[in-house]
Amino acid sequence: MSRIVLRNLVKSYPGGDRRATDEISLEVADGEFVVLVGPSGCGKTTLLRMVAGLETPDSGSVHIGDTDVTSLSARDRRVSMVFQSYAIFPHMKVRQNIGFGLMMRKVPRPEIDRRVADAAAMLDLSDYLDRFPSQLSGGQRQRVAVARAIVVDAGVLLMDEPLSNLDALLRLQFRAELKRIVHQIGTTTLYVTHDQAEAMSLGDRVAVMRDGRVAQIGGPLEVYDSPADRFVGSFLGAPPMNFFPALVSDGPALSVGALSIPAPSSLARFAGRTVLVGVRAEKLAVSTDAADGFLPATVEVVEPTGASVLLTVRLGDHELKVQAPPTFDTRPEASVWLRADPSTMRFYDPETSLALTV
Ligand SMILES: Nc1ncnc2c1ncn2[C@@H]1O[C@H](COP(=O)(O)OP(=O)(O)OP(=O)(O)O)[C@@H](O)[C@H]1O
Ligand SMILES: [Mg+2]
Repeated sequence: MSRIVLRNLVKSYPGGDRRATDEISLEVADGEFVVLVGPSGCGKTTLLRMVAGLETPDSGSVHIGDTDVTSLSARDRRVSMVFQSYAIFPHMKVRQNIGFGLMMRKVPRPEIDRRVADAAAMLDLSDYLDRFPSQLSGGQRQRVAVARAIVVDAGVLLMDEPLSNLDALLRLQFRAELKRIVHQIGTTTLYVTHDQAEAMSLGDRVAVMRDGRVAQIGGPLEVYDSPADRFVGSFLGAPPMNFFPALVSDGPALSVGALSIPAPSSLARFAGRTVLVGVRAEKLAVSTDAADGFLPATVEVVEPTGASVLLTVRLGDHELKVQAPPTFDTRPEASVWLRADPSTMRFYDPETSLALTV
């Protein structure tokens, strides 16, 4: 059992203007892969280092399996970590780097050799075992760091931006590879990235962090489809979720300037109030012809991406992103018509930015 349970973890650094982590509670089930994602400085590395035992929390506790490890040293925690700056030893060959943790644990030589060979094969490093890190590309060095972490078979695997030094294509390839490997070894994993696409693709669950707190945790589709607040909707997804204010009127309907959109019936209890509407670019239907229930908008920018066309359009006073089919034929200043299915709209409190239950 290698469940991770974090309770109210608080950490401040001397001279910091706010807490690096502020009462974070989180559970990772045995064998689960949870991704921490959030902007730079939101506390991801700090949280991971507290789980590893490399940073002492001011208050709160860390449990691994059934043990409270809060006061245990890193050595005694059965965790394996890949660091943001991959930290492999320059004076050791790949073989010794990968086997280092096993050697420290006094694992017999033949077993070290076997496990190093297995990990190297998994990470496509078999041909590089006798090279020094300086003779490897950045991506290969990063794979050595991952191999070194998975080879020890610790109960818990912690990874801090392990793909950050790869170029875009390699990153995409290695992401799928890593998912396969982690699934295969079945280790409980806490993984840090600031890349929202990577978070969605890898995580069984995704924890979106902001300013030392977890803004939302849930399955990738859940956090993408139903963001708990405006920050989560803007942070996840490319483009970010569209947000615009609208007045709820009887019917119920939503008035956006002079335009009126049908609203889900459950919104009736907010009649007379202004809400923030959130809708994803791909949920907006777009047409070059006027049709019933469609709203007139003006195209500002047309960006073909191959798989689709990303439009920036003006609807009344608001700028929206719309994802249209790749063959959608339009140009700047053209008129288009938009429609959002009420069931795809999300609603937020304009003051707190928190999701409204409708
Ligand atoms: N050793 C330290 N001393 C003082 N402040 C620190 C230290 N380490 C981190 N911080 C501060 O704590 C906050 C959280 O830092 P942390 O490294 O956890 O962020 P992060 O989410 O990992 O960011 P990034 O995506 O840039 O790696 C930041 O404001 C940072 O400046
Ligand atoms: Mg970090």
